[in-house]
Amino acid sequence: MQIKSNYLTPNYMARLVKHTAKAPIQVGKKEDNLWICQCGLSKKLPFCDGSHQCAHDETDDKLYEYDADGKRKEIKADDECCGGGCCG
Ligand code: FES
Repeated sequence: MQIKSNYLTPNYMARLVKHTAKAPIQVGKKEDNLWICQCGLSKKLPFCDGSHQCAHDETDDKLYEYDADGKRKEIKADDECCGGGCCG
């Protein structure tokens, strides 16, 4: 049996990734004006598209989830751990 899967097929597994950065990082020469997304919200990854603006009022002691439309939802502490032992 051969399993074909990569990030372009619907067979990949989703992962939750925690981003704490609220701003992009500039790479290359300053005149290139090349900014890499660090917040994870850009729709033009790996480049910043300004979507990080909606994360500026996040509170550091809370965890948030954003949907595909950029709508934010706070994750309660009880929802944070799946019980799999990977988050400490
Ligand atoms: S840093 Fe992510 S959109 Fe700007």
